[in-house]
Amino acid sequence: FEQGNAGPLVAAIDQGTSSTRFLVFNAKTAELLSHHQVEINQSFPKEGSVHAFHSNWMTSIGVTNQRETTLVWDKETGEPLYNAIVWLDLRTQSTVERLINKTPGRNKNHLKHKTGLPISTYFSAVKLRWLMDNVDEVAEAVLTHRAMFGTVDSWLIWCLTGGKSGGVHCTDVTNASRTMLFNIHTLDWDPELCKYFDIPMEILPKVRSSSEIYGLMVSPHCLCKSGSLSGIPISGCLGDQSAALVGQMCFQEGQAKNTYGTGCFLLRNTGAKPVMSDHGLLTTVAYKLGRDKPACYALEGSVAIAGAVVRWLKDNLGIIQTSTELEKLAASVGTSYGCYFVPAFSGLYAPYWEPSARGIICGLTQFTNKSHLAFAALEAVCFQTREILDAMNQDSGIPLTQLQVDGGMTSNRLLMQLQADILCIPVVKPSMPETTALGAAMAAGAAEGVSVWSLRPEDLSEVTSEKFEPQINPEESEFRYARWKKAVQRAMNWET
Ligand code: G3P
Repeated sequence: FEQGNAGPLVAAIDQGTSSTRFLVFNAKTAELLSHHQVEINQSFPKEGSVHAFHSNWMTSIGVTNQRETTLVWDKETGEPLYNAIVWLDLRTQSTVERLINKTPGRNKNHLKHKTGLPISTYFSAVKLRWLMDNVDEVAEAVLTHRAMFGTVDSWLIWCLTGGKSGGVHCTDVTNASRTMLFNIHTLDWDPELCKYFDIPMEILPKVRSSSEIYGLMVSPHCLCKSGSLSGIPISGCLGDQSAALVGQMCFQEGQAKNTYGTGCFLLRNTGAKPVMSDHGLLTTVAYKLGRDKPACYALEGSVAIAGAVVRWLKDNLGIIQTSTELEKLAASVGTSYGCYFVPAFSGLYAPYWEPSARGIICGLTQFTNKSHLAFAALEAVCFQTREILDAMNQDSGIPLTQLQVDGGMTSNRLLMQLQADILCIPVVKPSMPETTALGAAMAAGAAEGVSVWSLRPEDLSEVTSEKFEPQINPEESEFRYARWKKAVQRAMNWET
């Protein structure tokens, strides 16, 4: 493309659960100009597969990432001391039980007033505790003051700004708010929380806002086809769900979005004050777009398994070869024929927070086939979203009248229609699906000292979108939802 219709450019690194991507946007129009993706199990991108753009038009880079996933590395060697422990990982279950046993009244919400979170395998502090208890190299590095802890954003920023030769060890408020070591009111690490998990504060990154210059790219690996990215500021950092909220322009209190990735995450902007949930939702920092800007909070409903169920049908059962086949298979029957599939592979997250729940498929008859199972898997994603939306409406007292959605699974039109049917409200999908990366790029481009992207609502171009209206009657929807709820009870008590 020509510079005349392109510059300035803002890029984003989107490090998700199943892939890592690099995306380039036009800061004038928010148009996606170029992107490249590497699956997470590959080590290096193939040379030459990055589309051509002039690196000297690039003003800044933002980072967005899967949240909670925990790393510890040695600041002297620059090497990770163990594999990253991913947010979905259940190995910390016994750590969680031990912590809950020492907590007054065995109350899993004991730390909620400071963190907005229940004690669960999901958050970073228990993963870090597990690493310190079970990996000798980590324990040793902590004792000898060589350890650095970080979520994926911290690791990337540290590496890209120089690593062991002076990399910047930082995180932003949104990622910090998912560790359980961070006080969401004071917006800083909390000594009492660190004491509770017995974690030394010196290994924690410095907490910064979501939009400011953290450092400059200095890594020799920061190359694109037409030059080096060295010297470009990294100036945006947001956990992926917060980035999607920004990318969907949900800057007003009450606005919400639901992102269908590996999991599914519905965030509703609650403005300048953190709202504590009475219905199993999390309270989290939504964003803080500048050092001197106020923090904005969100209520969040987290579902562990959404896109991951598609992968399971493909890799474990082999009933589809590609994710896109799922829609065709489910559409060929248009019903689950009374089959309900609760994919509680990692326990159940919101609103239940039940780590011992396990997946079940029920309502099978001799007539049930793989197409019905495919349909039930899609419905499961929609029912889980419905449970979260109900909790959110109860907490806020103001029902959502439509749901903004994004993420990989939204290309499945059958899923989108089912979602509208099961929620009984319209579902609205942006025509540019990369809202997570866009949010990180917007934060990077709006940072003081970069300032090529205005985040004033009047300057933001309207998001063009597609709307799915409910097509079944509410009684039918309620009937199916009630059956789903019964199946969930079975998944929670499958052992008794
Ligand atoms: O909290 C986990 C979340 O950030 C992961 O997102 O897109 O990989 O499902 P995703």
